[in-house]
Amino acid sequence: MPPRGRLADPAAQLVAERAAVCFSLDAVGEQARGCIACPDLAAERTSVVVGDFPERPRFVLVGEAPGAHEDAAGRPFIGKAGQLLDEVLAGVGVDRDTVAVANVLKCRPPANRQPTRAEARRCQGWLERQLALVDTPLVVTLGGTALAWALGHGVRLSDVRGRVHEWRDRLLVPTFHPSAAIRFGPKGGPLAALRADLALAAATTCPS
Ligand code: URA
Repeated sequence: MPPRGRLADPAAQLVAERAAVCFSLDAVGEQARGCIACPDLAAERTSVVVGDFPERPRFVLVGEAPGAHEDAAGRPFIGKAGQLLDEVLAGVGVDRDTVAVANVLKCRPPANRQPTRAEARRCQGWLERQLALVDTPLVVTLGGTALAWALGHGVRLSDVRGRVHEWRDRLLVPTFHPSAAIRFGPKGGPLAALRADLALAAATTCPS
């Protein structure tokens, strides 16, 4: 969604303005690769991980931020969490290559710490523009950072997951981050929930 008024943080405002004049996903990627809105992240990064956007994706998955593997390779979700994500997607009949994958942050936070709210706000312009340009009817958020980006802070995943929500002229399926599924193990609730929620996302969309 384009910013409604001026943003309080000038760096976030500049990102939103730069993103608003990108008329293709490639243009967003090109602009984002030069972003220095978060100088600490920009100084440490190897890559700006702009996301995977195949032609006509079934839906968009939004995670938290790149980790070390993603920063090194420049692609989202290619480490352990990404492998699990690919497996769960395949298990519900969705090929990873048919969905778009992005993160709330495009740069890796040092030592894999959680993104700060200020970082998430600054990076938001790129992600919002990507969503507008890719224009899928459904978005899946993975974990708490992506949930806060979509529905605001203070919303509990346990209160909203397992259902399809109407959200900004689209549909939203909030679910667990695959790293929570790894942490709680193969018999844990997060893996079962992630499977069920991705199955719901698959059933709500048609392969194109
Ligand atoms: N975790 C995320 O949230 N995103 C990635 O791209 C990798 C791990």
